[in-house]
Amino acid sequence: MGEEAKAKVLIFSFPIQGHINPLLQFSKRLISKNVAVTFLTTSSTHNTILRRAIAGGATALPLSFVPIDDGFEEGHPSTDSSPEYFAKFEENVSRSLNQLISSMEPKPNAVVYDSCTPWVFDVCRKHPGVAAASFFTQCSTVNAIYVHFLRGGFKEFQDDVVLPAMPPLKGIDLPVFLYDNSLCRPLFELICSQFVNVDHIDFFLVNSFDELELEVLEWMKNQWPVKNIGPMIPSMYLDKRLAGDKDYGISLFNPQVNECLDWLDSKPPGSVIYVSFGSLAVLKDDQMIEVAAGLKETGHNFLWVVRETETKKLPSNYIEEIGEKGLIVNWSPQLQVLAHKSIGCFMTHCGWNSTLEALSLGVALIGMPAYSDQPTNAKFIEDVWKVGVRVKADKNGFVTKEEIVRCVGEVMDEMSEKGKKIRKNAERLMEFARQALSEGGNSDKNIDEFVAKISTR
Ligand code: UDX
Repeated sequence: MGEEAKAKVLIFSFPIQGHINPLLQFSKRLISKNVAVTFLTTSSTHNTILRRAIAGGATALPLSFVPIDDGFEEGHPSTDSSPEYFAKFEENVSRSLNQLISSMEPKPNAVVYDSCTPWVFDVCRKHPGVAAASFFTQCSTVNAIYVHFLRGGFKEFQDDVVLPAMPPLKGIDLPVFLYDNSLCRPLFELICSQFVNVDHIDFFLVNSFDELELEVLEWMKNQWPVKNIGPMIPSMYLDKRLAGDKDYGISLFNPQVNECLDWLDSKPPGSVIYVSFGSLAVLKDDQMIEVAAGLKETGHNFLWVVRETETKKLPSNYIEEIGEKGLIVNWSPQLQVLAHKSIGCFMTHCGWNSTLEALSLGVALIGMPAYSDQPTNAKFIEDVWKVGVRVKADKNGFVTKEEIVRCVGEVMDEMSEKGKKIRKNAERLMEFARQALSEGGNSDKNIDEFVAKISTR
């Protein structure tokens, strides 16, 4: 950064892949607008994140990585969702963040924090002049559903829900925590806590773009000054204005880059189903076997990400049986894969980052949601944005191989009218995604406005 920075910002992400990625991208956008950024890590993840940042290129950015004490030993899993973990995490991070800000002179202009850590707001308020900016890694539609739920607009486990500014929703379209009481209560509480102090925060930032959710955004804006700043994916896949920004820069898994790209190069254009269920989803053993059988039965080429911890669930001899038709890897360079000409569609768990990546690259989707906000994303993919189809599960949540074959046929079959419309809609939304972060696009303007406001505080 040549000239003196306009402002100084601390960024704090929950240390999981789906949250680090968009917050790191936001850091890069701020740096490109002459803001000095410090990316906060936690003591239990610092060494890992730094090692991964060196490997992924994020340490080459003009960005410092500073650890704050979370009270856990290095290596403690950041996917721990026990109430004790969350309580200790909050107590320690609040204390050490407060100490860090107290020691800084001049103070940062703002802290941009993961909306799942709403208590960072209280730390900011101890330091007059330090703005609190909550960053939501899920879309406004999901946020609005939680707000209605928390205001008593509908009850847990309700089957038909009618809410303003969105289509009627069935129970299976709602965020999982609102419909399935067998799920982890502490995580449900953590997710609901994102809204505890939204009346008081200084900035309400959402990783989405306006054209995707116009009506819901209007509804949200009537309550809070919500600003879309997304899609937060590397600039190379959008406006190309951030030189060299091809990758997020911190991968907690090891992508098998050459293996994926060489294999894709050997396949005809539009012929491959890319399959990934993100960094967290865990399929039941019988579901994994069924997906394996379904993919084989489609007759198409497929590239399937099966994380190392999931590989034991694959049928024996599967890799030999699929031969050249399929490639199974433990982690892929997902953006490079989605941008590859051989990809015909993406079968996804509908994690919000994966959804935004596919929308930004114009890839047709097959939604097989697993957890959290994913069913709602899948509903919108199929019925509102019409950029894909969603698998129908039976009453036990099981998806058969016949259903997988049916959905793949709808999206991949060149003669399918539905497939053609889906591809057309995907291209249309891709244009909006790119415009959003181009010079003068809505998200770009919102980031400019954020920088201008914090610079004058
Ligand atoms: C979670 C939630 O699912 C999501 O809905 C929430 O809003 C944010 O965090 P996750 O389940 O991991 O994350 O899914 P997703 O949001 O799709 O994020 C996964 C990220 O990992 C994506 O950016 C994707 O590009 C990357 N990825 C995934 C890879 O780079 N390689 C892979 O093989 C798989």
